[in-house]
Amino acid sequence: MKYGYFDDAAREYVITRPDTPLPWINYLGSDGFFSLISNTCGGYSFYKDAKLRRITRFRYNNVPHDDGGRCFYICDGDAVWSPAFLPARTELDSSLCRHGMGYSVFEGWKNGVGAELTVTVPLHTDMEVQKLVLKNESGEEKRLTVYGVTEFCLWNSVDDSTNFQRNWNIGEVEIEGSAVYHKTEYRERRDHYSFYSVNAPISGFDTDRDTFLGRFNGWSGPDAVKKRVSFQSVASGWAPIAALRLDIALAPGESRALIFRLGYVENEYEKKFAAPGIINKEKARALMARFETEAQFDAAMDELKAHWDALLSRFTVESGDKKLDRMVNIWNQYQCMVTFNMSRSASYYESGTGRGMGFRDSCQDLLGFVHLIPERARERIIDIASIQFEDGSTYHQYQPLTKRGNADVGSGFNDDPLWLIACTCAYVRETGDFAILDHPTPFNNEKGSEAPLMEHLRRSLNYTMTHRGPHGLPLIGRADWNDCLNLNCFSTTPGENFQTCSNYESGRAESVFIAGMFVKYGREFAALCERLGLADEAERALASADEIERAVLEYGWDGEWFKRAYDAFGRPVGSSENEEGRIYVEPQGFCVMAGIGGADHGKRALASAEKYLGNDYGIEVLSPCYKEYHDYLGEISSYPPGYKENGSVFCHNNPWITLAYCKLKDGNGAFRLYTRNAPAYIEDKSEIHRTEPYCYSQTIAGRAARNYGEAKNSWLTGTAAWSFAAVSQGILGIRPEFDGLTVDPCLPDHMEGFRVTRLFRGTRYEISVTRGENKGMKVDGKPVSGNTAPLTEAALCRVELVI
Ligand code: BGC
Ligand code: NOJ
Repeated sequence: MKYGYFDDAAREYVITRPDTPLPWINYLGSDGFFSLISNTCGGYSFYKDAKLRRITRFRYNNVPHDDGGRCFYICDGDAVWSPAFLPARTELDSSLCRHGMGYSVFEGWKNGVGAELTVTVPLHTDMEVQKLVLKNESGEEKRLTVYGVTEFCLWNSVDDSTNFQRNWNIGEVEIEGSAVYHKTEYRERRDHYSFYSVNAPISGFDTDRDTFLGRFNGWSGPDAVKKRVSFQSVASGWAPIAALRLDIALAPGESRALIFRLGYVENEYEKKFAAPGIINKEKARALMARFETEAQFDAAMDELKAHWDALLSRFTVESGDKKLDRMVNIWNQYQCMVTFNMSRSASYYESGTGRGMGFRDSCQDLLGFVHLIPERARERIIDIASIQFEDGSTYHQYQPLTKRGNADVGSGFNDDPLWLIACTCAYVRETGDFAILDHPTPFNNEKGSEAPLMEHLRRSLNYTMTHRGPHGLPLIGRADWNDCLNLNCFSTTPGENFQTCSNYESGRAESVFIAGMFVKYGREFAALCERLGLADEAERALASADEIERAVLEYGWDGEWFKRAYDAFGRPVGSSENEEGRIYVEPQGFCVMAGIGGADHGKRALASAEKYLGNDYGIEVLSPCYKEYHDYLGEISSYPPGYKENGSVFCHNNPWITLAYCKLKDGNGAFRLYTRNAPAYIEDKSEIHRTEPYCYSQTIAGRAARNYGEAKNSWLTGTAAWSFAAVSQGILGIRPEFDGLTVDPCLPDHMEGFRVTRLFRGTRYEISVTRGENKGMKVDGKPVSGNTAPLTEAALCRVELVI
């Protein structure tokens, strides 16, 4: 069953009814100011950091799930309704939500009145702008009372939801004209405030939430709205809001546009105040002035559209398969942008209060992002490398506002360092910017400790080589990619965090997965060294990769698949010797991608993965699921069977298997798996899948779960980047290399070919792939040997490949 449809020409998903199984959200903003917005107009905004600079309030465990957010009420006679259904919950005559690239549109109609609300965060603007167009098509005059309301968060979202003995005393606002300024804590150390305003004279306001709502009401029926009035309340402590009221008369056929603005301003310390106690509003006024008129708003929308046209034109495919095209050309790349911006911090499931930017997460996000805005990728790589320690290990996360390593989470996730090699190599192949390797980059952000980025990569590799266990395989530490495989944890205390609890370092628990990573990325590092003329170093890296490969073949191969690990007692995990967790997905993906054991091991590993882990929605993490908790395995066995790391389809690692199929040149296998959970292909199962049909979710409940097939934790997942890598570099086979663009597709039998346009190093490559007799590649009409199109100064390069 579907709740909407894809409008590919507009690059929108159109939701045709408000009662989607879960809130279906979108992300607005690209640099500083970000908003999340659901199909019923719920959500929240923050500046850079969802924990430390939360602008509006959101209650994660709310009922209904998505109440609050942007509250618009339209009062027309006895009827009170909201253009996006919530919060008024009045049934509309018709309604639509269109989620597009960086904007969302809501259209609601009731009794001949239409309200079209467009919400966006314009480029380079620290402000959410909401254009509300009211239309009277009823044939008679309408006297409407309209409210636009927002509830402010007292900045630190953890304190905001916990420290009430303080919170209820500190709230402060200023009201001037049609704007409410939220200035809690500005009187003391904060240098920032927010505001909510509208581009027309208001008829009244409220700024104290409880006065506006009344004692027993929620957002569905505030007291002020019921009475069509404003109480002119001035918040003093408690919960500051901005509720702006406009009384509007519309003649038949008349329409009127209002522009609401939720902005964020920082002032220099000396310029904080205009007069004692009165905030300096200059910057706020300047921001508002940029969005006074509908024409200004529309121009910003055009600019946004042009921005996305340019971004998405960097990689487009025409394959004859509409679903493939919409994933590749629109939604997968869009999600890559979102995961790049957010890492795993702020969604409807990630509260934005715990995790900042993850080291491994952000490194992997870059794999799907480097081609979009290489300059931002460059900056991100340096930020990430700057939280690495001198010994090559690293903090696991950092806060985006401070860019400092997060000490609460610490280090010891032994896969982390190797991801830095993965993303740096991908960046250099994309851009040819070898100079980044010389960039002076500190360790642990300490001034004076700077070393070239290349030295960071070197230490990453060295860390793995010097931290190995009894079988010569890399030690796992607190966990590897699978955060929940905690082989050194042995936690028996309820509620203790499995990742950060004091760690019993066995010195024995080893990861076959990290070994696979090492072989793959060790060889990529060697290729980089060779390219830099560091022949000896390349040789050493290759020798190390060979050494680890031998250890995998000797101790990591189980006979029909790759083992997962060795536990703290030296017993295998993910082996036929185990009763539960006999086989895991991760090492099948990485060891096959790395080519360990060649096609023979590869084919057997993938056949086993399909046989034991395959379900309707992909490949599960492990099987059989753990039925009981085992302290020697950790969090993985804490989840009920079939959920999360205990045997769901953890979508992030499925593209590894897709790429592994490509490594074995099995196009049917690759495509079969890709389409089992690519959102556009399962849109018509939305009532089972439940999360948004236009983006990947982290996890889909496995066969052992009661709710088999139900997805959770949409948006912020490494699935986005890896799926894009799998489809663009694996299935379509378009791979950036140091010296050119390789075209090496791995298509399913039914696919005849495709066309791709790919912007690479400033040249637009127009690539066509067809099946035929005269196999081989032509570049600008001339046959070439191999299948790599060389770099060129030309603006356009035509590549034809016959397979
Ligand atoms: C989740 C993992 C997550 C980890 C670290 C676990 O509870 O299941 O997916 O990576 O916490 O936050
Ligand atoms: C989600 C985390 O963000 C990611 O880093 C991890 O690899 C997966 N969970 C698997 O545990």
